[in-house]
Amino acid sequence: MNELDTELALSTLAGGGARNVDSPTEAGVVIVNTCSIRDHAEHKAYSFLGTMKQAKRENPDLVLAVIGCMAQKDGELIFRRAPYVDIVAGTAHFTRIKDYVDEVRAGGKRILALDRDEKVRSEIRAPQIRPDQHSAYVAVMRGCDHHCTYCVVPNTRGIEASRPLDEIVKEVEILVGDGVSEITLLGQNIDSYGKRLTPRATLADLIHRVAEVAGLRRLRFITSHPADIKPELIDCFRPGRIPNLMPYFHFPAQSGSDEVLKRMRRGYTREKYYEIVDAVREARPDIGIAGDTIVGFCGETEEDFERTLELHSRVRYQQAYTFTYSERAHTPAAKMALADDVPHDVKQERLQRLLALQRSIQEVDNVPRIGSVHEVLVTGISKVNPNAWTGRTPQNQLMHFRSERNDLTGRYLTVRVTRTTDLALYGELL
Ligand code: 5AD
Ligand code: SF4
Repeated sequence: MNELDTELALSTLAGGGARNVDSPTEAGVVIVNTCSIRDHAEHKAYSFLGTMKQAKRENPDLVLAVIGCMAQKDGELIFRRAPYVDIVAGTAHFTRIKDYVDEVRAGGKRILALDRDEKVRSEIRAPQIRPDQHSAYVAVMRGCDHHCTYCVVPNTRGIEASRPLDEIVKEVEILVGDGVSEITLLGQNIDSYGKRLTPRATLADLIHRVAEVAGLRRLRFITSHPADIKPELIDCFRPGRIPNLMPYFHFPAQSGSDEVLKRMRRGYTREKYYEIVDAVREARPDIGIAGDTIVGFCGETEEDFERTLELHSRVRYQQAYTFTYSERAHTPAAKMALADDVPHDVKQERLQRLLALQRSIQEVDNVPRIGSVHEVLVTGISKVNPNAWTGRTPQNQLMHFRSERNDLTGRYLTVRVTRTTDLALYGELL
């Protein structure tokens, strides 16, 4: 979502003729889009702002804006910690960045814009702003109505607001018209898409409609919440129903312990989670499931953590995003004084054990893919090997392959897997 918000903020400036430069010292405007999900992300933002002090001294005309979740959460504090910042604009203001830059240039005054009722003006962005000409994100909703006790998102992004279905379809049509063939629909809690819309619409309705846009070859959606999954959504994955809906499901469990899930206020048990995973796999056996897991949440015992290891062994994620718990101000956990009582080194040790298990699951599960044939959307030259190309399978797995041909980016090619690791498939072009 932050990557998309960055595109939208940049797009407002591009309308006035601005273009990207390679380093902050060459820029007339620097926008720092921030994340608050874990302490580490905020540290990175503040330390980057520290490096901007000198740039601002050398070029007093430079306009420095801080936007996103940390801006929303810290507000004034950012001006106190970095007095040379010109604009602090919260999570509803990224499409107003050009106005704010113009105001700063005209009047030299700082701007603090945190009102969450501000509306996103337009999600349409110029193609040159999009980092990828073939794949694009489309936000279908912003905010979250859940109250997971560890999570700062409901506080920074506010309650759920869904965009009207027709507006989303129109945006997808524009993107496809510009050459995009893969769309990922985004929502913090995408299964409750449409909740407050009239006429009401569901995520399944939206997927059906978007999938019909002519020229759209790949459709994905993230992120799903186990407490909100509806049977109609699972049915969308059945073979033949929606041919361009990709077999990929981002489905965070967060923990395998019912006690921890309760303290996290996730609203489901481990058994319920397994039931959904089984139903999804029954509907679509080749689906790639990705998860998010937090280790070391308040009160997590060794036994709780072992339940999480069991969950990873049972679900066998194709990919897992794993984190140590980071206590955040203003979250329910902080307000309820749930103690962040798992020592730092225990969190780290558990994370390492979980990572080792997950790595071995991926390594083992990739081996039987040797010999299988996949359609790959080529994303570009491999980052690790300039003689190889990289693409994504329908399951969103990375596939590397060699070819003497150039200009393959954006093409759909057929590749047979010849070798695998825990992280990627390697194949030959057919
Ligand atoms: N500490 C650690 N990880 C967190 N996440 C959300 N909040 C926290 C936190 N306070 C993780 C969850 C979520 C992902 C986006 O970030 O796993 O799914
Ligand atoms: Fe945060 Fe929970 Fe909402 Fe996800 S569902 S954004 S973890 S509150």
